[in-house]
Amino acid sequence: MARVVLTRTLPFEAVDRLRAQHDVTVWEAAVPPSPEELRDLAKDAEGLLCLLTDRIDANTMEAAPHLRAISNLAVGTDNVDLEAATARGIPVGSTPDVLTDATADLAFALLLASARRLPQAAAAVRQGEWVTWEPARWLGQEVTGATLGIVGPGRIGQAVARRAQGFGMTVLDSKSTPLDELLERADFVSLHIPLTDDTRHLIDARALARMKPTAHLVNTARGPIVDHQALAQALHEGTIAGAALDVTDPEPLPPDDPLLDAPNLIVLPHVASGTHRTRERMAQMAVDNLEAGLDGRPMPHQANG
Ligand code: GLV
Repeated sequence: MARVVLTRTLPFEAVDRLRAQHDVTVWEAAVPPSPEELRDLAKDAEGLLCLLTDRIDANTMEAAPHLRAISNLAVGTDNVDLEAATARGIPVGSTPDVLTDATADLAFALLLASARRLPQAAAAVRQGEWVTWEPARWLGQEVTGATLGIVGPGRIGQAVARRAQGFGMTVLDSKSTPLDELLERADFVSLHIPLTDDTRHLIDARALARMKPTAHLVNTARGPIVDHQALAQALHEGTIAGAALDVTDPEPLPPDDPLLDAPNLIVLPHVASGTHRTRERMAQMAVDNLEAGLDGRPMPHQANG
C-alpha cells in the first residue's frame, strides 16, 4: 500500500481500484491547488495522479521526497518538468491514444462550426433575428473540397486528416509541406503539436499574415502555441476569417479577456477529450501508469526516461 495523492476528485471506476489498494488522499476543491497547497498536499506522497492544470516543477518534486511515480491525466505533459523528474528517477505517465478520436472529433466540430458560423447563426435565432429565410446572410465557407493544413501530423493530426478525407478535402501536413507554404495554401489550419519552447507563439502575427483572409484557425493543442494578441488583431482586421480554440493562454480565459471581443471567434473550455468513454479510459490508463510506477515496473505510457 502506497501513499497516493490525487489533485482532483475523479469520479471514474479506475480510481475505485486505486482506493482499494492504496492510501489515497484527494484534493477535493473544485479548483486546483496553488503551488504552495500542492507542495503541502504532496509532501508525503509516493504516487501523484495530477491534471494538466497542476504545475509539477522541480520545487514540487523537492517538496515530495518520497515521490516515486507521477501520472498525468493528459496526453500533453508540458505541465510537468520532465527533466527534473528524470533527474530524480521519477517516471511520468501520460494518456495517449485513448483520446485521439475524441480530440479529432472536436477539432473537426470546431472547424465546421467556425466555417459555417454556427454560434452566430444560433445566437441570431434566440435574439429574434430569424425573420425570414435569408439568401445572403450567415454565409460561411465551404468545407467540402477545401484545403486543410495540419500542423503536427501525429496521432491526433492524422485522425483529423482521416475525417477530412470524408469531406473530400486536400490535406497538407507540416511534415511534408513547409509551414509558411501550408499557411498560405490552407483554407483551414488545425494545430496538433505539443507545447515546447520551439512551438510557443509559433502562430504569431507573421504566421497569421501568411494565412488567407478567408481561412480559419483551429487550436485543440495548447493555448500558448498561438499569440493571442496577434490573433485578436488578425480577427479584428480581417487578416483571417475565423478562429476556434479549445485551448487558450491563460486557462481558464477570464471572461473579460480582450481576445473575447474579437469577431468570428469560438472559445471552448478545453473539452476536446471530454466524452464519458474517453475520460474513463484516460483515468484507467493514468491509474495503470501510476500502479506500474509504484511497483517499479515500466509504465504502459511513460513520457520521460
Ligand atoms: C488534453 O489537453 C491532454 O493533453 O490530454
